[in-house]
Amino acid sequence: MPAEKHWVTVEPRHIVLEADDGETIMGAALRSGYRWPSLCGGDGTCSICWVEVLTGGNQLSEVGELEQDTLQLVPALVRRTRSVRLACQARVQGDVCVRKSGVRPKAQQ
Ligand code: FES
Repeated sequence: MPAEKHWVTVEPRHIVLEADDGETIMGAALRSGYRWPSLCGGDGTCSICWVEVLTGGNQLSEVGELEQDTLQLVPALVRRTRSVRLACQARVQGDVCVRKSGVRPKAQQ
């Protein structure tokens, strides 16, 4: 049976990604030919991949211990005022919309 698919919309560029059920946000973007800001390459340790979740936060996997620790690197003001997740750790389980600057096609610099 084919894997269930979900839509991930990335603002402000309004990039729409198709994600496999359980795939990370960043994984879906990379597979779709996009560059996603990262220093650790998706190990969950740099925090650079963080996104603001606009809608569908309940469609993402629960925050694990590693993600919880790394999210502490995101400025406190941001964490207090927005719903923040790591794109390399949050797994898509339904349609979701996030905000992330710097996501662009790999060919474009
Ligand atoms: S890519 Fe480094 S924490 Fe997500």
